[in-house]
Amino acid sequence: MRILSGIQPSGILHIGNYFGMMRPAIALQAEGEAFYFIADYHALTSLKDPATLRENGRRVAIDFLACGLDPERAALFRQSDVPQVTELAWILSTIAPIGLLERAHSYKDKVARGMTASAGLFTYPVLMAADILIYNSDIVPVGKDQKQHIEITRDLAVKMNETFGEIFKLPEPRIHGATETVPGIDGQKMSKSYGNTIDIFGDEKEMRKRVMSIVTDSSPIEAPKDPDNSTIFQLYSLFATKEEIAVMCEAFRRGGTGYGDFKKQLFAKLWDYFEPMRKRRAEILADPRYVEGVLERGAQRANEVAEKVMARVREAVGL
Ligand code: AMP
Ligand code: TRP
Repeated sequence: MRILSGIQPSGILHIGNYFGMMRPAIALQAEGEAFYFIADYHALTSLKDPATLRENGRRVAIDFLACGLDPERAALFRQSDVPQVTELAWILSTIAPIGLLERAHSYKDKVARGMTASAGLFTYPVLMAADILIYNSDIVPVGKDQKQHIEITRDLAVKMNETFGEIFKLPEPRIHGATETVPGIDGQKMSKSYGNTIDIFGDEKEMRKRVMSIVTDSSPIEAPKDPDNSTIFQLYSLFATKEEIAVMCEAFRRGGTGYGDFKKQLFAKLWDYFEPMRKRRAEILADPRYVEGVLERGAQRANEVAEKVMARVREAVGL
């Protein structure tokens, strides 16, 4: 079984990335052959600063490794180290219906938020389909916001197979139910572009400040509170054990505890949770060549697979 996923190096990784994609991806590395990459071609749709793109890419690799990605089991590489994906993206774009791309929520949302409607932003899902299909992927662990992109990938694979004969497998999305959408400190979906994130490896003071500024209603301390509508409770549930969650739930309903106290409990859990990963990260940072070595080996492995699939595609379409 081949497992594949990608993450854009367009910013610093946050706990939405962690629970939505990284943790499920890390868990899956034991179940098959995993390929995880840093989607730097995709990040170019939003990031036009070369030094930042390069630096973020390296940071994503370091952070992913620190969180438990095992390079002996999973290949970790940069998307742009396998430039054949852009060749496949071109071929896919010649059969991709404009109407299908026009229905993409992600494109519409980004343009609505003021991003320039470039051709690259519009064909983003075609490049993503190439990423997935070029490695014969079976399973793609992603957050819920990427589900439609996997559906588009399947549509394009079917169309290619109908037009040129059986070339591609149809991939399945794997969306982790409990962590479909992690809320940010304002209660909206946590996202770098909303400025509402809690970073995985933020500095302690800053992270505490972010947690303490989670938006709540203005219920007084003594009032009973509704855990189901609370961002604090939702985030706490990601980190705590079943028993701890039940205790906080009961304390919400009973009243007598203020939101400030709940926030402190959340911060303590969150900080402890990432403690072993911060340790591992410090070790990785101490050996600057380690990450480059991992990325090189990952790229080699990815190239082997991609080149085989591309040979089949070129043959099938007549190139
Ligand atoms: P991105 O930062 O958009 O490249 O997202 C990387 C991965 O993290 C994708 O699989 C997203 O679906 C996932 N992700 C990002 N934000 C969230 C969130 N707030 N909740 C759950 N998953 C998320
Ligand atoms: N679009 C994905 C995101 O923003 C990143 C991505 C690019 C990806 N190519 C992919 C994810 C292929 C899974 C498979 O999160």
